[in-house]
Amino acid sequence: MRGADRAAVVAGLGAWVPQTVVTNDELALRLDTSDEWIRSRTGIARRHVIAPGESTGDLAVEAGHRALKSAGTGTADLVVVATSTPDRPCPATAPEVASRLGLTGVGAFDVAAVCTGFVYALGVTAALIESGAARTALVIGADTFSTILNPTDRTTRAIFGDGAGAVFLRAGDPAEDGALRGLHLGSDGTRSELIEVAAGGSRQRSTGLPAEEAATYFTMEGRSVFAEAVRRMAASVQTTAESLGWASGDIDRIVLHQANARILAAVADRVDVPLERFPSNIERVGNTVAASIPLVLADAAESGELRAGQRVVLGGFGGGLTWGSVGLVWPGLTVG
Ligand code: UT7
Repeated sequence: MRGADRAAVVAGLGAWVPQTVVTNDELALRLDTSDEWIRSRTGIARRHVIAPGESTGDLAVEAGHRALKSAGTGTADLVVVATSTPDRPCPATAPEVASRLGLTGVGAFDVAAVCTGFVYALGVTAALIESGAARTALVIGADTFSTILNPTDRTTRAIFGDGAGAVFLRAGDPAEDGALRGLHLGSDGTRSELIEVAAGGSRQRSTGLPAEEAATYFTMEGRSVFAEAVRRMAASVQTTAESLGWASGDIDRIVLHQANARILAAVADRVDVPLERFPSNIERVGNTVAASIPLVLADAAESGELRAGQRVVLGGFGGGLTWGSVGLVWPGLTVG
């Protein structure tokens, strides 16, 4: 993204969570867990989950609609949906989301990078805008992990929630507020088994394993993932900041994927930026996977914690393993 004479500029922001709320106490009625354990180990108090019949695409449409409204427009040249819980394995969710937003005919595709999905989607979309292939785009992060969690797994059920968030990007000047700069992306496929849904893809299907015996639930090795999340997000944020010439004291806000409040604190320590500069909404939404970063952006922008002119780095980490960061000076905008 460096050196381009055109940049992708954030010009709209919207978010949406489904209505049903599940508190820690409600989880503790059905699982061997407690509000005390979940709060102290993760910082989460409640999460939103979809109702039967609702889907990731439904949430994506709501968030996309609000981002368009925030940008003061009804149209975009491109719709990109970051998700690991698509409405169906095939086709992608984005074309239907685009049509439901009244955008039939535009380019539309999904990006799968689990909790880093939103950062990856921003990166690929920004490159398309910089190349001139698109002038405007809607980038939506949407996931409904409640649909793939093992109902008896107290650890994953305590963490994940459903939601969607979206930004509207337009072509602009690399020097203007809102311009995405300093993109950094990384991955380590040798550790793919740390976060996975083992079944449902070609590898499981080619074995002929009956569907009812397949490992269709999401699994995560929490401790290893925790350590990797801290290490990779801290390094990625630092890479982005350095590429922009920002010292740690120059960074006003670091907006990270909301995986665990203790991960935010550990990253703050590593990058030497006070934890007060890390906006967080994990207490009330949990880990919403690809929706996490735009949801916390929307909350922080609405509360005034995120203000125009602040130097901001966004950072994500997730399955793959994948990680990534991007920087911007926060633009003046009203959340849709
Ligand atoms: O979003 C993508 C990336 N994901 C992440 O970054 C998640 C990273 N990992 C984490 O946030 C944490 O590892 C978890 C929150 C998942 C788990 O916390 P932990 O402090 O690492 O716990 P643990 O897995 O080491 O388990 C400690 C104990 C175990 O019991 P024993 O074996 O010591 O008796 C678990 O069975 O805590 C138990 N435990 C629970 N107890 C009550 C695990 N989940 C729960 C629970 N309620 N919900």
